[in-house]
Amino acid sequence: MGRINFKDKKVLITGASTGIGKALAHEFAARGAHLALGALPSENALLDSVAKDIEEQFHIKTWCFAIDLTAPDGPERLHQEVKEKTGGIDVLVNNAGIAAYGRFWEQPWEPLEKTIQLNLQVPTRLMHLFLPDMIKRKSGLIYNTSSVSALQPTPFQTVYGATKAGLQSLSQGIRAELKGTGVTVCTLNPPYTATDILTKGGFPENLRWYAISGGLRRPEWIAKKAVNALEKRKFLYVTGFNAWLFHIVLVRFSPRRLVDWVSGFFLKGGWK
Ligand SMILES: NC(=O)c1ccc[n+]([C@@H]2O[C@H](COP(=O)([O-])OP(=O)(O)OC[C@H]3O[C@@H](n4cnc5c(N)ncnc54)[C@H](OP(=O)(O)O)[C@@H]3O)[C@@H](O)[C@H]2O)c1
Repeated sequence: MGRINFKDKKVLITGASTGIGKALAHEFAARGAHLALGALPSENALLDSVAKDIEEQFHIKTWCFAIDLTAPDGPERLHQEVKEKTGGIDVLVNNAGIAAYGRFWEQPWEPLEKTIQLNLQVPTRLMHLFLPDMIKRKSGLIYNTSSVSALQPTPFQTVYGATKAGLQSLSQGIRAELKGTGVTVCTLNPPYTATDILTKGGFPENLRWYAISGGLRRPEWIAKKAVNALEKRKFLYVTGFNAWLFHIVLVRFSPRRLVDWVSGFFLKGGWK
């Protein structure tokens, strides 16, 4: 099986106004894909300007969908409007996400509940909505922005890690169910990346983990490698050698107690 060719494919990316989503949009457009881009209604103008820049740079088509995916009918509206405007998509990138830093029991409930909803319930629902058409056409691809946080415990961001572990399990399970349909699910598992999610989520600026993992990555670096890996149909793609070593190799071969201790120490607070 050769590399996937994204030329003239229609790709829906949620959370495309900033960060990793915006960088992924550039990478897909550079390969000739047309883009359906989503973000919150409050970022409508930003999303429009991202779309306009990409259209001018890459001469592809874009459609914008400013919909709050945590609204009761958010995913259903996105599915309906995307179908009407684009006529159907080839690739769904479930990328919108939020996080909150702090001790589990000390955090207010509302942001935790929203994290579960946006990071796990929304992609689950969007896959449930978009998959039947893909299966009917015998072709389609889902790319879920998971995280290295899916691969071991994440103290002080436990709910975030749990949503990503859930998304990881869901992606791998659905992929097995999809065998032979012409449709598949892959995950992107980036390490810490310099985007708004960390500042909005209240992460310490100098988290100890950043020091041992080689610092924050750039979203453009993540996206370039991510779409390259997707072209090769990598099922679970951890971005970068350091992240692969820590989160795949060391986590798998170290005693559970050590993994828990290292996670707790390096995710607790920042270096002074
Ligand atoms: N940065 C990291 O360290 C890191 C590491 C691993 C995985 N990830 C994952 O990467 C993905 C993208 O995050 P990012 O780091 O690029 O952060 P980001 O820059 O904050 O992007 C988050 C995106 O999600 C959108 N969004 C937030 N709430 C929404 C809602 N209710 N409805 C619709 N869209 C909503 C935001 O739209 P607005 O601009 O309209 O707010 C924004 O476009 C997330 O799934 C995150 O978990 C990030």
